[in-house]
Amino acid sequence: MFKNKTFFGTLLLFGIVFTSLFLGACKHENLEIINGDSICFERDILPIFVSNCAMSGCHDATTQADEYDLSNYNAIMKKGISPGNPDDSEIWEVIVEGEMPPNGSLTREQKSYLKSWIAAGAKNGTNCVVQCDSNVYTYSGAISKIMSNCTGCHSGANASAQVDLSNHAGVQTVALNGRLMGSLLSKVGYASMPPYGSPRLTPCQITQLNKWIGNGCKND
Ligand code: HEC
Repeated sequence: MFKNKTFFGTLLLFGIVFTSLFLGACKHENLEIINGDSICFERDILPIFVSNCAMSGCHDATTQADEYDLSNYNAIMKKGISPGNPDDSEIWEVIVEGEMPPNGSLTREQKSYLKSWIAAGAKNGTNCVVQCDSNVYTYSGAISKIMSNCTGCHSGANASAQVDLSNHAGVQTVALNGRLMGSLLSKVGYASMPPYGSPRLTPCQITQLNKWIGNGCKND
């Protein structure tokens, strides 16, 4: 049927060339820009460094591979971050080029946070104060906002521990089986949440959660 084999061979070759050009162009993925006024270093950025870079043998305070200690704010700011300028920041460069972390483990969301944090001046200790009224404990007014600290790891098909906190049903499930408060209060037998030295939820937030659970975990 296809008499002209050379023609189809050429088509195939072009197909391969175009596909690889296209894939190559996708290396710099489109990242969401997050408002710098909502980024808190301790809560949103440090956990990314601690869990992906500051491991023993890599960029912890002892090893400091390539003289990068990425275990705390002052150390991170010593080398490779140019506040306000992600494209001038060596740390961002190696991430966006896919060289670091070596296993390519950062999610698109984590990269968005890192880039937006550097672009907003790479600040420490800002935007971390949570406005909280313990008399407000509806799902939409309080609980879903608390959970937005967790959904980076706990949403979708690959949610950590298969705990999806991005919707009412998911939160209700762990609220009722005890895992939610067990982990938030670091009870024996539960993984302590949020992890990696991130700030604990405030007493006010814990009160909101307890009241919401006591009131029947409504989707209100
Ligand atoms: C940086 C990622 C990350 C963040 C942020 C995070 N978690 Fe987790 N969470 C995990 C991982 C990983 C596990 C599994 C830990 C294990 O099994 O040792 C887990 C486990 C859990 C579990 C199951 C605990 C158990 O022992 O049954 C609950 C519930 C949970 N997280 C709730 C939360 C809540 C609520 C927040 C926000 C306040 C939160 N997590 C923030 C990564 C995260």
